[in-house]
Amino acid sequence: MERKWWHNKVAYQIYPKSFCDTNGDGIGDIPGIISKLDYLADLGIDIIWLSPIYLSPLADQGYDIADYYQIDPRFGTMDDMDELIRQAGKRGIRILMDLVVNHCSDEHEWFKKAMKDPEGPYGSYFYLADAKDGLPCNWRSYFGGPVWEKLPGTDKLYLHVFHKKQPDLNWENPQVREEVYKNINWWLEKGLGGFRIDAIINIKKALPFHDYPADRPDGLSSIDNMLAEAEGIGVFLSEMKERTFQKYDAFSVGEVFNTKPEELGEFIGEHGYFSTMFDFSTTSFGKSKNGWHDCTPITAEDYKNCCFESQAIAAPVGFMANIIENHDEPRGVSYYLPEGECCDEAKKMLATVNIMLRGIPFIYQGQELGMENTVFESIEDVDDVASLNEYRNSLNAGLDSEAALKVVNRFSRDNARTPMQWSDEPQAGFTDGTPWLKVNPNYRRINAAAQVADSSSVFSYYKKLIALRKNPDYLESIVYGELIPYLAEQKNLLAFYRKGSDRTILVLCNYQKEPQNVALPSESFRVLINNMPDFAEKDRTVSLDGYQAVVLELFS
Ligand code: GLC
Ligand code: CA
Repeated sequence: MERKWWHNKVAYQIYPKSFCDTNGDGIGDIPGIISKLDYLADLGIDIIWLSPIYLSPLADQGYDIADYYQIDPRFGTMDDMDELIRQAGKRGIRILMDLVVNHCSDEHEWFKKAMKDPEGPYGSYFYLADAKDGLPCNWRSYFGGPVWEKLPGTDKLYLHVFHKKQPDLNWENPQVREEVYKNINWWLEKGLGGFRIDAIINIKKALPFHDYPADRPDGLSSIDNMLAEAEGIGVFLSEMKERTFQKYDAFSVGEVFNTKPEELGEFIGEHGYFSTMFDFSTTSFGKSKNGWHDCTPITAEDYKNCCFESQAIAAPVGFMANIIENHDEPRGVSYYLPEGECCDEAKKMLATVNIMLRGIPFIYQGQELGMENTVFESIEDVDDVASLNEYRNSLNAGLDSEAALKVVNRFSRDNARTPMQWSDEPQAGFTDGTPWLKVNPNYRRINAAAQVADSSSVFSYYKKLIALRKNPDYLESIVYGELIPYLAEQKNLLAFYRKGSDRTILVLCNYQKEPQNVALPSESFRVLINNMPDFAEKDRTVSLDGYQAVVLELFS
């Protein structure tokens, strides 16, 4: 496989609205990001992915773009953006923007022109249908309700698979694709390192529109049913790659759900559409078509199986991007650890897996501090469209309001969107004003200032893991080496080799609060990383404490 500049990199996702506010309006901004570049460089970050900062009405927090060539004034100016790219570059950090092109905002000029003249050229930028014929199909939008909405001032409907303020762009129209490529290249010319590609699997629709069997009492059908049938997305994706990323050797990471294992090579193989794509196997585990209230909780064994399955599928093909969480998920440490067991050791154990797997690690802001889910006392505290929809859905399914709120507390993506906890000062040092979303009350206990200064903190542990991954001595093993599961049958043990031509690494993670013994395959080794002060080994048996994680280098 040809080696690429991103293979040995560690990436970090910034959710700008919640990262760092410099002008007291309660909303994070680009100058705030610039002010924290040294913190990220110190952590060892090479790539930053920014969730959208383009001009937007923020109906879906910027994933509804009104102008792809402008920065939203709430986040800053184009000069700020240029400065960010420059300042990051000085520190060897590349910036990725979010490419949101399945849809735009209903406030984009294309959509306004389509409303004015649905029969004109901009009408075919979208999927329009005659209202008098009823809904063209019974698909349910991701945020609830039908995907069809009246095109204001006309006798037409338009399609939106997300929020009604996010009309889908018609990728079948070559002009739309030209506009997208032009925009990508414009940004790459500015010196971006690449893009994270939003919701991309939705750009190919199964046409002509038709119904699927209803899967909830609302009579609608999940988009997944349509996606399973849609064919030919590769034509769009390879065209996009050839016209844009490829020319710049840019990095691209796809938000892709529902790929069939046999198609993975087309997506992330050596000549794939993308450099990599996220491994969502753990975040998607146990999800139910009935909604959040019906999800199956994930156990340590499930987590292990998800990791090993994805690794096995990706190994012959390419690199996945490994995550614990992102802005669409609750906090990983709250979700993947049993209630009451979310301690620093367990957080470090999850970190060990995240950074030591084969692939490109993506850390979500605050993950490196072990930030946890917040508590929403009332549904009024929740801002997110998806969470509000799931709350209603839970009520419709018969849960009372207390139970429905509990569901939202567990799953809401607003858990990950609370302001970054910089210090123990008011509002966690995020803003001098009133934050747009409440700060997690645990910020006095969990914050960057305290952890940076503490060599035993979660932050310092991430730093060590990242330094190990980036140490050139371990390039062949930790970056390019094979991942081979070790003692996969041993319950609540998540263990694997990383084998390179020159070195062999063994990662042992005790994914439970009880101690357990693990047999070693070799008697000659050294400890590279340990999330606890002690390491107990005798006669080739390691006694791991609850949630202990160690990285060993084996000799012989
Ligand atoms: C992606 C984003 C999510 C957004 C959706 C619609 O899934 O990650 O935040 O709501 O796309 O753009
Ligand atoms: Ca601000």
